[in-house]
Amino acid sequence: MAKEHVHGVFESIAEGYDAANDRISLGMHGAWKKALCKTAVKACDTSKRAGLILDICCGTGDITELIARKYPDIFVVGLDFSANMLDVARTRLQGLENVELVEGNAMELPFDDGTFDSAVISFGLRNTPDYEKVVSEMVRVVRPGGTVACLDASVPSNKAVVPFYQFYYKNIMTLLGGGIAHHKEYEWLYESTQEFLRKDELAKLFEQCGLSHVQVRSFMFGAAALHIGMVPLFGDIVTHAVQTAVKMVAQSQDTPQEGAKA
Ligand SMILES: C[S@@+](CC[C@H](N)C(=O)[O-])C[C@H]1O[C@@H](n2cnc3c(N)ncnc32)[C@H](O)[C@@H]1O
Repeated sequence: MAKEHVHGVFESIAEGYDAANDRISLGMHGAWKKALCKTAVKACDTSKRAGLILDICCGTGDITELIARKYPDIFVVGLDFSANMLDVARTRLQGLENVELVEGNAMELPFDDGTFDSAVISFGLRNTPDYEKVVSEMVRVVRPGGTVACLDASVPSNKAVVPFYQFYYKNIMTLLGGGIAHHKEYEWLYESTQEFLRKDELAKLFEQCGLSHVQVRSFMFGAAALHIGMVPLFGDIVTHAVQTAVKMVAQSQDTPQEGAKA
């Protein structure tokens, strides 16, 4: 989906977005988001320094707020490309000193390698034109041993559930979310879920982007999913150096030493 189209959709629905989210998820998105926040917070060891978490596609800032309000020793950066969504976030986050909002693109994160303890994305990945690029960027900006987590809508794999799911999302969700005025925008949100990666495909993409220990949690019969992965403690360079050293030791042991008896 073109970046410009997505940008236009979120600019236009920013004001009613939070209330629409409550209606669409039947009030359940709060619990799913708490689970996402928990994985991010777990990656922070605040005994020696402040934790650092990046909330990509932060929208109106509910994830940023959930973490920043509860954990004053964690600094949260929220990034989004919609100025209108960020305006709503700014109002919500007023008075919190441990947050910073950045207007930017999820596909070109304006941060150095290994900056954060964790990077999260909630209901954002499926709206971006290049999932691999976004996950790779998340991996790049997280330190070794940190985590990358994605919460997003998904399609249930249970065949008995699928007809109910499709009826709800196609007919009820679009009306609950957008009403008459924004019906079209919410129809598009439904379509983007259908086109999005299935749970096992997203887990594979996490691994392809270099994440290890990938775990998947399903919510509401599989209509939403949380994917979590760890940035390996030993990156490619360290692994290669260790493998080379081990090979050299093995070779030197195979080579008969001068003067040694056969
Ligand atoms: C469905 S909202 C999710 C908001 C919030 N994270 C939540 O869980 O409710 C998706 C957000 O992603 C943002 N977004 C989509 N594509 C983006 C991109 N390429 N770069 C930055 N933000 C993007 C939109 O502006 C929008 O605020």
